[in-house]
Amino acid sequence: MNKKSHWENIYQNKLPEEVSWYQDVPTISLELISVCSMSNDAVIIDVGGGASTLSDCLLEKGYTHLTVLDLSANALEHSKQRLGDKANLIDWHVDESTQFSASKRYDIWHDRAVFHFLTDENDREKYKKCSKCFSQNRRLRHHCRFCY
Ligand SMILES: C[S@@+](CC[C@H](N)C(=O)[O-])C[C@H]1O[C@@H](n2cnc3c(N)ncnc32)[C@H](O)[C@@H]1O
Repeated sequence: MNKKSHWENIYQNKLPEEVSWYQDVPTISLELISVCSMSNDAVIIDVGGGASTLSDCLLEKGYTHLTVLDLSANALEHSKQRLGDKANLIDWHVDESTQFSASKRYDIWHDRAVFHFLTDENDREKYKKCSKCFSQNRRLRHHCRFCY
């Protein structure tokens, strides 16, 4: 079974709350984003976001430029269903994180539990190249990239 089928199967056969990595509230991610001290118009991407509630929480906090990328369309569908009309406020991408061609520059690159699935050195290098699509916004003192 290839990588995409593997993840599609998981999200087809389980509810988001049934997977071992589910978090009601992604506290650590929210804290990491908060310590960046960026304004609510920061451009944020959640790579391998799956069916995580991070985007729900960020919308609630007032962030307005959110993107969620995942290999699994089923995963993103769970999030869209949960968010209802608010799903229209988010930019969704079904894509492979090592081949993602960003159409915008990001201030924050968030990755919880995706990078470590890249066991091939070439894939890790490609991923690192993709994650360099950071904003050139001079107002910002730094950009943030989290993989944990
Ligand atoms: C352990 S889950 C973590 C999901 C989410 N970050 C969270 O905290 O709930 C890993 C996620 O990465 C996605 N994924 C795995 N490999 C990927 C890849 N190469 N590109 C994009 N997404 C990938 C899976 O579909 C899955 O949603």
